[in-house]
Amino acid sequence: MAAISLRNIVKKYGDGFPAVNDVSIEIADGEFVILVGPSGCGKSTLLRMIVGLEDITSGDMVIGDRKVNDLAPRERNLAMVFQNYALYPHLSVYENIAFPLRLAGASDEEVDEKVRNASRTLELDEHLERKPGNLSGGQRQRVAMGRAIVRDADAFLFDEPLSNLDAKLRGQMRTEISRLQKRLGITTVYVTHDQTEAMTLGDRVAVLKRGLLQQLATPRELYENPGNLFVAGFIGSPPMNFLPAEVEGTRLTLPFGSVEIGEEKASRARDRGLLIAGIRPEHFEDAAIADKQGSESSFTATVEVVEWLGNETYAYIPFEAPEEVQQQLKQLEQDLDGESLRTQLVVTLDGASRISEGDEAEIWMDASRIHLFDPATGENLTVDREHAGEIPAEAVEVGAGA
Ligand SMILES: Nc1ncnc2c1ncn2[C@@H]1O[C@H](COP(=O)(O)OP(=O)(O)O)[C@@H](O)[C@H]1O
Ligand SMILES: [Mg+2]
Repeated sequence: MAAISLRNIVKKYGDGFPAVNDVSIEIADGEFVILVGPSGCGKSTLLRMIVGLEDITSGDMVIGDRKVNDLAPRERNLAMVFQNYALYPHLSVYENIAFPLRLAGASDEEVDEKVRNASRTLELDEHLERKPGNLSGGQRQRVAMGRAIVRDADAFLFDEPLSNLDAKLRGQMRTEISRLQKRLGITTVYVTHDQTEAMTLGDRVAVLKRGLLQQLATPRELYENPGNLFVAGFIGSPPMNFLPAEVEGTRLTLPFGSVEIGEEKASRARDRGLLIAGIRPEHFEDAAIADKQGSESSFTATVEVVEWLGNETYAYIPFEAPEEVQQQLKQLEQDLDGESLRTQLVVTLDGASRISEGDEAEIWMDASRIHLFDPATGENLTVDREHAGEIPAEAVEVGAGA
C-alpha cells in the first residue's frame, strides 16, 4: 500500500487544451478518495495519469516515495478495476483471479495460497469453480477485485465502475465496494460523475470542474460548507436553492420577504449589492409543523405544486429573479451538465404537513444555514473555512464561470 501525491498536475492534449489544470491532491495511505464532477471535467484523464496510461504534461506524480512520471504502468504496481470487469468467460473464477500470478510465472503453491486468501476476503469460496457468466454482477465485480488483490497492488483505481448497472444493483455494489475497501484498507481512487456515489463512498471527495480542482473535503464538509456556487449546486439532491438576495443591516432580503441572519454572517456580505443566497430544501419547514408561525424567519408564499411522499413532502414555489442572477444560474446549469435550476424554490417539508397546491402557505427557513455567494465570482462569502477542507484559490476566481 502507498500514499499517492499529485503535485501541480497538468495535462494538455494535442490541441493544447488543459484537460487537467494544475491539480494537487495528497492521498493518504489507505484513504478512499473520490474524483467527481460532470462529464469532461478531467476525471478519467487524472486517473489515467496516476496509472500511467497517459503522459503527464507537467507536475509530479509520487506514489509511496517514488516519482513515477516516467514509469510504465506495470512498474507502478497499481490495480485498475475496469467497468466491464474484463473477466475471461472460459476460465473459472479461480483461474480468473489467478491470472496475473500465472502471467508472472508464480508457482502453483503461491497461486493457490493467494487465490484462496483473496477468495476468503471476498466471500467467493463457493464460487471458485464456476464461470463468470453464471455469476451476479456483484460477484463478478468481486472477482475483478480479487484479481487486483492477488497482485498485492499499492492502490486500487476505479473509473465509473457502476455506471452500467441499474439503480438497485448500483446501490448494492456501492455498499460492497465500501465494505471491501475498509476491510482491505487499501488506498483507493474512484472516479464518478454521480454525487451520491461520491458522498457515500469517499473518505474525501475532490470536486472538479473543467480541469480545475474546486474543493477537496469530506462529504460532510462539502455538503455543509461548499466553497463556491458550483460545489454547492453539484453536491446534494434535490439541489440547493439559489435565490437573489441583498443584505441590509443584519437582515437578508429574499424574493419572499426578509429574514434575520445575524451580524456575523451579514458582515461578510454587506455592501456588496445583489447576492445569491443558497439554502438547501431540507432547511425549510411548514411553519405550522415547526411551531414557527409569525417568527422572524417565516414568510408566506404561494405553493404551486406539492408532491407528498409519505415521509416527506416536496413543495415548489416559483419566484422572480433579476437578469443578473438568471444569467449566473443559467451558466451554473450548463456547468453542472443538465440538472435544471429553474427559478423556483424546492422545499422539503414534513410528511405531516397539510399544505396543498395553490395555498398561501407560511414557510419557515433555518436562517443559520443560509450561504451567501458573490454572483460575479461564485465565491461562498459565508463559508466556514475551518470546516471546508481545501479550497484552491483558483476555484473562487474562475470557479464561477461568470
Ligand atoms: N485523447 C484525447 N485527446 C484529446 N482530448 C481529450 C482526450 N481524452 C480526453 N480529452 C478531453 O479532455 C477533457 C477531459 O476528459 P476526461 O478526462 O475523459 O473527462 P471525464 O472523465 O471527467 O468525463 C475533455 O474535454 C475531453 O474532451
Ligand atoms: Mg471519464
